[in-house]
Amino acid sequence: MDESFVFLIFGATGDLSQRKLIPAIYNLYRKNMLPMPFNLLAIGRRDIEDKDFRNQVKTSLLSKDYDEKTIDEFILRIDYFKMDLVHCINYDDLKQFLKVKYDTSNYLYYFAISPELYCSTAKRLNASDLNDEEDGFKRVIIEKPFGHDLESAIELNKNLHKYFNEKQLFRIDHYLGKETVQNILVARFANGIFEPLWNRNYIEYVEITSAESLSVGTRAGYYDKAGALRDMVQNHLLQVLALISMEPPINTSSKALRDEMVKVFQSLRPIKKEDVPKLVVRGQYVNSIYEGKEVLGYREEKNIPKDSKTETYVALKCYIDNWRWSNVPFYIKTGKALATSVTEVVIHYKVNPHSIFRNNEEISSEHNQLVIRIQPDAGFLMTFQMKVPGAGFKVQPVKMDFHYSSLQETDIPEAYERLIYDCLIDDPTLYQRSDAIELTWNFVQPILDAWKEDESIALYGYPARSWGPRYIENLLAEENHPWRFPCKDLSDGRYCEL
Ligand code: BG6
Repeated sequence: MDESFVFLIFGATGDLSQRKLIPAIYNLYRKNMLPMPFNLLAIGRRDIEDKDFRNQVKTSLLSKDYDEKTIDEFILRIDYFKMDLVHCINYDDLKQFLKVKYDTSNYLYYFAISPELYCSTAKRLNASDLNDEEDGFKRVIIEKPFGHDLESAIELNKNLHKYFNEKQLFRIDHYLGKETVQNILVARFANGIFEPLWNRNYIEYVEITSAESLSVGTRAGYYDKAGALRDMVQNHLLQVLALISMEPPINTSSKALRDEMVKVFQSLRPIKKEDVPKLVVRGQYVNSIYEGKEVLGYREEKNIPKDSKTETYVALKCYIDNWRWSNVPFYIKTGKALATSVTEVVIHYKVNPHSIFRNNEEISSEHNQLVIRIQPDAGFLMTFQMKVPGAGFKVQPVKMDFHYSSLQETDIPEAYERLIYDCLIDDPTLYQRSDAIELTWNFVQPILDAWKEDESIALYGYPARSWGPRYIENLLAEENHPWRFPCKDLSDGRYCEL
């Protein structure tokens, strides 16, 4: 990539920009992956001098142990532009500033702003011709949440398409930028040993778990309107499900890959509203004592309504109705304030049809498991049975594992780093297409509707820092499908119904 460009961050003083975006672009700069000259225009509504903003960035980058000389060079490439996106309806000043200040007309806009402002910002960029690609590229990266439900997602796509064409729009889902998530494809399609067994004949069920030990923190305003289903399932975890279950694409081109992912979303068996209580469990954390200290319940957190019914935990069972996966259950579960932080996929293989060791007291035919650990300590782990040394044929499960950390001197790029770079080289493969977004909303919509319309659907309390509601057993009732708990349940054992 040799074209210089300006990286414009709308919402530059916000949390996402400070924690993720600026460090990501800094990393690209430090690794000489950006064309020169490169400039970053930080747009925010606060009144800040260039030098103060640069110093803020410097302090935050230094806290991550980066080298000061490179940071000093980097921050000189940052300018700050004050603009209140709610009230400013004319972007001609911005246009003039860009024209005078920089030698390039290639602009990459990052919308790290409140979703209510996506449309108006796009509209105003259009009104000032700042979307016009005649003299250079104009691309927009749009953060999640992309819509609040199916209808709003369709509306948002429709509106954005009035001002930017699909090729200019990059809808980000940072899970697709994670090295270990992409590695699912390599593990499946670059090895001969997994794919032949990757289907209903050999796989009994699949678990996709994303547990977070952190509570809602400072994000009450956003989270209470979203909840776990919108925040994690509609986007991140369905993307993981698609990579796990898709057919092999003919190559890694963005069209081939995204077409296959879309086919998975098209094949998801819709969960009917009346089946929601049976197939979906929702929960909310309540206060608990963890390691001797009190942990607040969700409703006691700052800015959360005392009667909030927002789910901080969701577990669901779904099916992919196609030839490969017919009747194989996929369990997706995620929550905040859980026992530990871990994201992983577990493939549970079928047990042997007949166990010749069954006369032994030990269980001799457990499910073999392939654990794809996305974070932390990313890697792959296989469990299988081996003989216990000594007399007879006692069998015990053992593990074979690979950890990314054992690849020495490997710099694993942060998700945002990879995704911003891909946008610069105009590669949308790891970004979401509008049809995929609408299909994933289409899948979760009946669940949202059922929860809204039927007050009697339970919202289960679970003690903060436990493994979630005990009532997940509802999902497992029909089959004997134990879940893998990556660490011991440290809860105090209290469960209740809210
Ligand atoms: C974000 C959600 O998209 O992803 C957060 O809004 C969640 O609630 C986060 O904590 C999880 O991302 P990661 O990379 O920490 O797994």
